Amino acid sequence: MILNTLETLFRPILEKYTDHPEKFFGMITRCNDPKFGDYQANFAMGLAKSLGKKPRDVAAELRDAVMENAVAREMFEKIDIAGPGFLNLTFSETWLKKMLLTAAADGRLGIPMAEKPQTIVLDYSSPNVAKPMHVGHIRSTVIGNSLYRILKFLGHRVIGDNHLGDWGTQFGMILWGWKHFRDEAAFAEKPVEELTRLYRLARQKMDENEAIADECRRETEKLHSGDAENRALWSRFMPFCLDEIDRVYRRLDVTFDETLGESFYNDRLPQVVEILQEKGLITESDGAKCVFLPGREAPMIVQKSDGAYLYATTDLATVMYRMEQFHPDAILYIVDHRQSEHFEMFFETARKLGYEQVDLRHVKFGTVLGEDRRPFKTRSGDTVGLEGLLDEAVERAKKILVENGTETDVDETASRIGIAALKYADLSQNRDSDYIFSYDKMLAMNGNTATYMQYAYARVCSIFTKANDGKRPECGPIDWTHPSERALAMELLRFDDALAAVVKDYRPNFLSNYLYDLANRYSVFFENCSVLRAESEEIRRSRLRLCDLTARTLQKGLELLGIQVVSRM
Ligand code: ARG
Repeated sequence: MILNTLETLFRPILEKYTDHPEKFFGMITRCNDPKFGDYQANFAMGLAKSLGKKPRDVAAELRDAVMENAVAREMFEKIDIAGPGFLNLTFSETWLKKMLLTAAADGRLGIPMAEKPQTIVLDYSSPNVAKPMHVGHIRSTVIGNSLYRILKFLGHRVIGDNHLGDWGTQFGMILWGWKHFRDEAAFAEKPVEELTRLYRLARQKMDENEAIADECRRETEKLHSGDAENRALWSRFMPFCLDEIDRVYRRLDVTFDETLGESFYNDRLPQVVEILQEKGLITESDGAKCVFLPGREAPMIVQKSDGAYLYATTDLATVMYRMEQFHPDAILYIVDHRQSEHFEMFFETARKLGYEQVDLRHVKFGTVLGEDRRPFKTRSGDTVGLEGLLDEAVERAKKILVENGTETDVDETASRIGIAALKYADLSQNRDSDYIFSYDKMLAMNGNTATYMQYAYARVCSIFTKANDGKRPECGPIDWTHPSERALAMELLRFDDALAAVVKDYRPNFLSNYLYDLANRYSVFFENCSVLRAESEEIRRSRLRLCDLTARTLQKGLELLGIQVVSRM
């Protein structure tokens, strides 16, 4: 609420000096030292240069101009000009209290719905099926799901689409394996395990023998071109593959509106190539149909000389379908950064096809590393299974709970804590960076972890049990006597700024960082101010309301990250 209001106030004033006021918004920051003020704006220095004026004079002009607005006069107790021309903003108690009451009285905690709701397709998780999900799938799944929740909460129309890799060369390998080495009994018992075994076996044989590699490729071709036997087998395998991933999604509390895998687009691929051809975008090279893009040596291949279509062809078909079906303003692809080049080329081609209005965005992320800083693998060099990771996280959470003497709901709580730890460890990272997977770190009770956040929430809630038998205080005015109360209040008013920061560049870590700051502000407040034994009944009531708003903000914020709270730990 704070940044948003400041931007609205300063926009018309900055517009008198510049065509791009938004460029100056980044210069509004919190004051490091509360003795100077609450927030600080450094517009004047940048503007002064181009105006040929003294920065302090420009600062004074800005201050006088903003203070003509009645909202500003209510919001600011004072605006000081400091140093070379900083505007130091101190908020008035009246404004802070009014905003706090607005937030507390609102089920949405004062977060407004988007003024211009957009339609946004989110392409996330999208694993290649018929193999168990592995550690590499965590990132797209949890980052995508958190963005899904946040955008939806802000009032956008969001379509979560799981673009399954259900049509790739892994099926040719499995089909080949099935035809030569299947174990029906094993399939009956654990179908995906058997398919995985066949996949690994085919992989190994292919690597040893070029002829087998050809046979596998032919199986894929036959599947794609409609061979009855291969299609039937595919249809027989798929439900098990879907069950397998659904089980993981249920545990992770992740959902989709659509699951339109690559197979869905098979019949549309010839048309993609035709359209590209009509637009004169195709060049033949060694029999393959290619799209050459300016400044790039390697082309994007859309059809191989043997007639096979590629990943890029499917992505083009997908964008066409999504535009037709959903008319989105943006399509976000939450995919590993190693696919950057693919997305750059595919977006460029899509624009050439006329999809210029839609914001096609690769929301990329780094790799999950093991403790040795190399891509996370098991001792034997295999990729690490996702379910095993979930099991282990839950198991370790349970151990911690038992050690701490927890007796009720141990399993349910352990499951919430373990899964939350895993998700939060991912979401709290800058998504561009690689990060090291560590159970000890993610389950630590201190630091920016889910465990700490859940504990902070449970601790706030425990006050209500002691104060009024678990009942939350009634909504009403919040007042303060100690600076740590005011600091907590101001932090609570930053919730929507944090959400705005997330959606600006699709970075959930801005939300987790905010929640961590909030939990810390709460700790300081709690150390300094007695809630249950407050100086007066009035102060006690006000502090309980502050606790309540903190609990609700933590809960909502964690929910938007896909994290469930626990009321006791
Ligand atoms: N299945 C792909 C993979 O596992 C990711 C798909 C991402 N989405 C897309 N539209 N290309 O690498």
